[in-house]
Amino acid sequence: DCVHVFAPATVANMVCGFDVLGFALDEPGDEVFIRKVDRPGVHLVNVSGDNGRLPREASKNTVSASVMSFLNHIGQADIGVEIALHKQMPIGSGLGSSAASTVAGLFAVNTLLGNPLSRRELLPFAIQGEELACGHGHADNVAPALLGGITLIRGYDPLDVVAIPVPQSLYASVVFPHVDVPTRDARQMIRSKVALKDAVTQWGNIAGLVAGLFSSDYELIGRSMHDVLIEPTRAILIPEFREMRRIAIDSGALGFGISGSGPSVFAFSTSQETARKITSVIQAQLTQQGIDSNGYVSGI
Ligand code: HSE
Repeated sequence: DCVHVFAPATVANMVCGFDVLGFALDEPGDEVFIRKVDRPGVHLVNVSGDNGRLPREASKNTVSASVMSFLNHIGQADIGVEIALHKQMPIGSGLGSSAASTVAGLFAVNTLLGNPLSRRELLPFAIQGEELACGHGHADNVAPALLGGITLIRGYDPLDVVAIPVPQSLYASVVFPHVDVPTRDARQMIRSKVALKDAVTQWGNIAGLVAGLFSSDYELIGRSMHDVLIEPTRAILIPEFREMRRIAIDSGALGFGISGSGPSVFAFSTSQETARKITSVIQAQLTQQGIDSNGYVSGI
């Protein structure tokens, strides 16, 4: 018996909520196939769609490595499984590529074994996968990839994940400009100390965003989508960042910002038509500058 799982791309941070907010997209995403075999151990038998960029060694690939920790945890380390990973989304894009693979793998192995753990209990293993992928175990991609919708990581120690309601008419435009920004590098460039005045601005915005999501107050959501701590530094790595923001807002976006650690960007809007328009005008701007991109439109 083979289990086949799709896990979606995610937008982490949601502009102001660095490492604490994220949401799941409809597409793109990754697929994992898993089956039991007689040969003991976790075997990564096929990886496709990554242009050879991901580790093939089972203990170094986030999918197989997190499946190994899961099997250890449930006391089934001696069984045999074969895993195939089909990447259908760009790596190093800021769309939670490693999270989509890891979550698909964990969900698949848990299903294969008759769901010994709940979805939430799978989270710590997915976080370990992120640590392996980029050197830091953030949960703002894996939590929405696993649970869907919008999630808040209220705390990491102990892990406290809160599902945030999704307003009825909220759509995301996502554009991935084809430049590589590894999360590891994009994390190293951030200052580790912040000024109190900036912290006050930031937590005002995070609270405003969450309040707006709870009350479906689209104006409040838009007003709160500002990041004074991380974006000023990371935006430097993203071509046409200011121009893309201006175009998105002019085309009706509620707010605009970096997706995860970039280079992807995203905008929120209140209709699918507006979301489509925003994706296409941003892509046109990049094309004009000779930059290829992928564009997506998603409900949340
Ligand atoms: N919160 C993480 C970061 C997400 O911004 O580095 C990475 O996708």
